[in-house]
Amino acid sequence: MRKKIIIGNWKMNLNLSEAQDLAFKLKGEVNTKTLAEVAVCPSFVYLSAISNILKGSNIYLGAQNMSNQESGAFTGEISPLMLKDFNVKMVIIGHSERRQVFNETDEDINAKIKTALKHEFTPIFCCGEELKTREANKAEEFVKNQVLAGIKDLSKEQIEKLIVAYEPIWAIGTGKVCSGEDANKIIKMIRNVIKEKSSVDISERVRILYGGSVKSDNFNETIKYSDIDGGLVGGASLKADEFLKLVSLAGNAHEQSQSHPASV
Ligand code: PGA
Repeated sequence: MRKKIIIGNWKMNLNLSEAQDLAFKLKGEVNTKTLAEVAVCPSFVYLSAISNILKGSNIYLGAQNMSNQESGAFTGEISPLMLKDFNVKMVIIGHSERRQVFNETDEDINAKIKTALKHEFTPIFCCGEELKTREANKAEEFVKNQVLAGIKDLSKEQIEKLIVAYEPIWAIGTGKVCSGEDANKIIKMIRNVIKEKSSVDISERVRILYGGSVKSDNFNETIKYSDIDGGLVGGASLKADEFLKLVSLAGNAHEQSQSHPASV
């Protein structure tokens, strides 16, 4: 059974003491009894400090991006080998802000996924459509193509190691949430694409998350869908209380899916 996971994407927010404070609070609350998995992705410059705080905890450390190169003349880039030094386990790849603001292409993202896998990171591979694409009824087709491009030439074993995050761009940081039903529809489609490129068993093991204005007052509606395996959370991950509420909602959903496996 897939375990739910809540991943905090701190983006370019918090100063050092705020980031440390948040990490301490989370560490104090997340323990072996926590039913959902938890990860946080601070800014690169705080990875060292946060890694020290999270040592010995059940919280995974993630990075928000990574170069597809290992070393060399790439001013301003961060190599996967550097991330290894800080016990980073996951890397967000292909976030829509990287695609839109920094012009990352599907090819760049595919290359980064391959590099991440080579260095044994779990890629958190993001996909999602713009509002105009959804309004033109082309969201499914668009996201399908993004997923196919991102996993191009990966082996089945590599596909199994991914976490996918469906994040409709129009819902990110806007307060507009995609309904659970709509998110589940796209996420089921993504699982199907993964099945076609790997196997039924693998597609049943890959976790696919929803992201976009996730908050404790809307997440119950999303996480109740059995195909939705957790959340990639921006704004609501910056406050310990709010983030921990999401972790507990995901944990409850996990418990419920175990007692009623075929619920929604
Ligand atoms: P948000 O961001 O929760 O602030 O909408 C989500 C994300 O960009 O991953």
